[in-house]
Amino acid sequence: MPTKSIALVAHDRMKSALIEWSKRNRDFLSMHTLYATGSTGGVIEKELKLSIEKLESGPLGGDQQLGAKIVAGEIDMLIFFWDPLEAQPHDPDVRALLRIAVVWNIPVACNTATADFLINSSLAQSDYKREVPNYQPYRNRTLK
Ligand code: PGA
Repeated sequence: MPTKSIALVAHDRMKSALIEWSKRNRDFLSMHTLYATGSTGGVIEKELKLSIEKLESGPLGGDQQLGAKIVAGEIDMLIFFWDPLEAQPHDPDVRALLRIAVVWNIPVACNTATADFLINSSLAQSDYKREVPNYQPYRNRTLK
């Protein structure tokens, strides 16, 4: 199975759901390269005894670091359990991460059911070539 780079993020009240999901899917996760925002990475690493590349904590810029990795083509899949019932101090970053994942056509799961569908897709086991729209016109804009 081709190794994928999978990013894991969960807001505080969603961390238990991500831990539970990750435990259930430890075999799958253990075959891939894992990235996570700081606190999420810390708890998953401890609970699953898996090595994870931990970025900064989300509120301190970890979401933006992940976004930069997506732009650089370094992330294949984003599992992001954001909290639908509580505002976050870094809501603009949360929105930015979700937005940039869409811009670069990264598969994103924001709850356990979607995460289950995502990793159980046959495409998750294959060398999937994600299409990215032609953004060249955005790069070549000239100001009048
Ligand atoms: P954390 O950040 O993993 O450091 O808690 C997650 C987030 O709030 O985006």
